[in-house]
Amino acid sequence: MTGTCTKLDFRVLNDILEKYEYKKSYLIAMLQKVQEVYKYLPEEAMTYIGEKVEGLSPATVYGVATFYAQFSLEPKGKYEIKVCDGTACHVRGSMPVLNAIRNKLNLKEGKITSDNGLFSLEIVSCLGACGLAPVVVINDKVYPQMTSDAVSIILDTLIKEEA
Ligand code: FES
Repeated sequence: MTGTCTKLDFRVLNDILEKYEYKKSYLIAMLQKVQEVYKYLPEEAMTYIGEKVEGLSPATVYGVATFYAQFSLEPKGKYEIKVCDGTACHVRGSMPVLNAIRNKLNLKEGKITSDNGLFSLEIVSCLGACGLAPVVVINDKVYPQMTSDAVSIILDTLIKEEA
């Protein structure tokens, strides 16, 4: 399983709320802090903020969190996979690579974390390495000129290592 911290510590949340004086105008900053701590936004944290801050509701907090791409509503995996779909990578075949990853990890459209919590998937735009397109990054390691076969082998290797 992952080392992601998923058990909610309400003291941490209270500290964050206090830091931002329970003001709804600081909602984005509060959510950023929560994400910094947990690496994603746990539902209970959004509900808690929605209940504690005057003028907000859990639904409002959830609505704001889903609007901004910077917020993740699912925990990240031990291996964070980023597939570049900037223009250069797209033209050189990032989509077959992405589909191979989704198939291998059983990630249907919209699902970003594998059931075992090991892998999470994110599509990003240009990573600044267009000469190496299509590019995949797993944690901090850059994999250049990816193909669906190559990425499958890399994932198989990681899966085997974790077994
Ligand atoms: S478009 Fe993928 S690295 Fe630039």
